[in-house]
Amino acid sequence: MRPVIQVSAIRKTYGSTVAVDEVSFEVNDGEIFGLIGPNGAGKTTTMECIEGLRTPDRGAISVLGLDPFNDVYKLQERIGVQLQQAQLQKRIKVWEAVDLWASLYQKNSIDGERLLEQLGLIEKRNAWFMTLSGGQKQRLFIALALINNPEVVFLDELTTGLDPQARRAIWDLVRGIRERGKTVFLTTHLMEEAERLCDRVAIIEHGRIIDIDKPQNLVNRHCPERTVILATDDRRAGDSFRTIPRVEAVSRSDSQFTIRGRGDDLVTEVIHCLSENRIRVTDFRTILPNLEDVFLKLTGHSIRD
Ligand SMILES: Nc1ncnc2c1ncn2[C@@H]1O[C@H](COP(=O)(O)OP(=O)(O)O)[C@@H](O)[C@H]1O
Ligand SMILES: [Mg+2]
Repeated sequence: MRPVIQVSAIRKTYGSTVAVDEVSFEVNDGEIFGLIGPNGAGKTTTMECIEGLRTPDRGAISVLGLDPFNDVYKLQERIGVQLQQAQLQKRIKVWEAVDLWASLYQKNSIDGERLLEQLGLIEKRNAWFMTLSGGQKQRLFIALALINNPEVVFLDELTTGLDPQARRAIWDLVRGIRERGKTVFLTTHLMEEAERLCDRVAIIEHGRIIDIDKPQNLVNRHCPERTVILATDDRRAGDSFRTIPRVEAVSRSDSQFTIRGRGDDLVTEVIHCLSENRIRVTDFRTILPNLEDVFLKLTGHSIRD
């Protein structure tokens, strides 16, 4: 399988700021690939180099076998782009924006009305852009990015500023884009978004890629710690928990026990121990690491700092 996007050792500086430094990765056909990292990490710069909107100082990029710089017009016909800072005229109507975008492409665009229907915007077709909610605006930008029936779709911080409900609706739409066989390249500084949406992610910080993998693989590789918190009045429980394989620490506060260990089997082992020793529990929770923890482990600081 040939990768849809190939980025080899690109570098981009603005004066003395090194925005992107020796960045390399590949995006496969049909996957949702996320470039994730804090604000200022170099996500937008990297994405816009791939789209042909900025030129790297050095390194090579290939998208659908094309050079984004030399083949920019050919490429534009085959990709869909949603920009981080996108805005439209206040009084452009939804259907007018779709019509205008469709007219920018040489090849026949797809049915705009159907697209609006699919994105839940058909009732808003006559509404002015300025009257749309944040979530509706973002859905319109997705519609515009899809109007030329592109093979690769670029989405830059698509759900920033949206409430959790609107965010979930957008995630479903992005999954729908993948289901239609397209490749999605997105950026986000939201680790939960990356975890729920992306097949693979590249973590970027200070312009450098730190690691690339499936979200779950990153968690398993970098953060194997698992924690079970449970409540029981059984006085002998603590001794039983200490005999569980791969348990590293057991602490107790009143009737609440915190059991720490490593590996995916820990939770099963704890449940097994409870059942073997007929320990009655009144509460049971697990704390599993996520991509935020991976970021913290790899960089020494939280992504929100
Ligand atoms: N057009 C520009 N001129 C000067 N500096 C820029 C420009 N675009 C981005 N930068 C700088 O490059 C770095 C990376 O920015 P950006 O790619 O926008 O990061 P992200 O999208 O991850 O927030 C930042 O330090 C930013 O200030
Ligand atoms: Mg950005």
